[in-house]
Amino acid sequence: MPDTGLLRDAARTAAVAAGEVVVIGLGYVGLPIAREAAAAGFAVTGFDLDPCVARAAAATGTMQATADPRALPRAETWLICVPTPLDPDGQPDLSLVQAALDTCRAGLAPGALVCLVSTCQPGATNGLCRRELERDGLIVGRDIFLAVSPERENPGGDTSGPRHIPRLLGAPDVVSLARARAFWGRITDRVIPVATPEIAECAKLLENTYRLVNIALMDELHRGFAALGVPTRAVVAAAATKPFGFAPFWPGAGAGGHCIPVDPAFLQMELARAGAASGLLAAAAEANRTRPARILAAVERALGGSVAGRRVLVLGVTYKPDVADLRGAAAVELLHALAARGADVLWHDPVLGVAPAVLDGLRRIEDPARCDADAVILATPHRTYDPARIAGLAALVFDPHGVLPAGQAGRVVVV
Ligand SMILES: NC(=O)c1ccc[n+]([C@@H]2O[C@H](COP(=O)([O-])OP(=O)(O)OC[C@H]3O[C@@H](n4cnc5c(N)ncnc54)[C@H](O)[C@@H]3O)[C@@H](O)[C@H]2O)c1
Repeated sequence: MPDTGLLRDAARTAAVAAGEVVVIGLGYVGLPIAREAAAAGFAVTGFDLDPCVARAAAATGTMQATADPRALPRAETWLICVPTPLDPDGQPDLSLVQAALDTCRAGLAPGALVCLVSTCQPGATNGLCRRELERDGLIVGRDIFLAVSPERENPGGDTSGPRHIPRLLGAPDVVSLARARAFWGRITDRVIPVATPEIAECAKLLENTYRLVNIALMDELHRGFAALGVPTRAVVAAAATKPFGFAPFWPGAGAGGHCIPVDPAFLQMELARAGAASGLLAAAAEANRTRPARILAAVERALGGSVAGRRVLVLGVTYKPDVADLRGAAAVELLHALAARGADVLWHDPVLGVAPAVLDGLRRIEDPARCDADAVILATPHRTYDPARIAGLAALVFDPHGVLPAGQAGRVVVV
């Protein structure tokens, strides 16, 4: 065991740099926070393992940024904004958070605050984070401070940016909470302190679990309403007029992105550990995971049992409309599955710039009207797509989102 007192005495000589903030991970979440903190008057240093990302952040002219951990200041505030993906077995992978904590530890001075922004499992703040930060003898709540404020960004949404989305905030002790509240209060309009870190962690996971379950429900009911001859979107819009007790969800090709298919696994992992795994959540996760395969099966059925040698055009490949992000996109899975079954696959997307490597080997087209496809799948209904024109693009048009006009019997297929 290190001698805590000695360590603290030695470390006291290296005081924190007041007003300095280090943001670890400069992606979708970290970069906007870093910019907002800089705009609020903090001296921000961004840190990213990827030197290109660090260079791009520095080029904004709003902050210092580096890929060299030795160049980091002894900042007063450290924000962890690194990815928290699932591993190949579908289990949460916290190795990047672990690496970020190592980076913090190397630069921590007494008085510093570390705030976890990445989405983690319940108990991560009080468990993993506290354990790692205290390894050198500094004590949370006495020498250093710790909080969690999970990100709620909604890419492409009407409410976006760190200033406008209310921030949940939890901390293991009152001093940490006060420190974190003072920081976030300068860059966010509304900070909502909760009683424990676990409440903040679980609330974040509940938000996306709620979405996953409702999306899976709507994907299933979409086929059901079609079987009843009722247009799903009209049903949801009608139900949404109820001023209480109903939040609208819309059918789609399967929930993608970094969060909705991933975060519930963090909750399920801890529920399972506590002997309380959720069957409903497991069913929703499985329904979402298999949604592209079910769309593919419907296309195969409609084309006489096989897509081999048939030309299939996929419209929209990003994970959600009007957002140029392919992470977890159902369309990408669909494209590869079609290609693996011998289809002549084409794709079109007006939102995506240069096609990333995940689309290598798949043919992009510029004009959907000129490709003479046997079937079209409207996988992501970007705003610029005209439903009436799409419904006429091929003899078979698959509509997982329920956005194409009715009255095209035998042509528009609801999946
Ligand atoms: N993207 C969203 O809309 C969103 C919304 C809410 C919550 N979140 C959560 O926020 C966290 C960050 O997600 P993101 O979308 O910003 O990820 P991202 O992939 O866009 O960016 C993360 C960045 O962190 C860098 N990085 C990885 N490990 C690092 C390390 N050890 N040290 C320094 N840099 C490192 C990567 O190079 C990358 O540039 C995740 O937990 C995610 O679940 C994301």
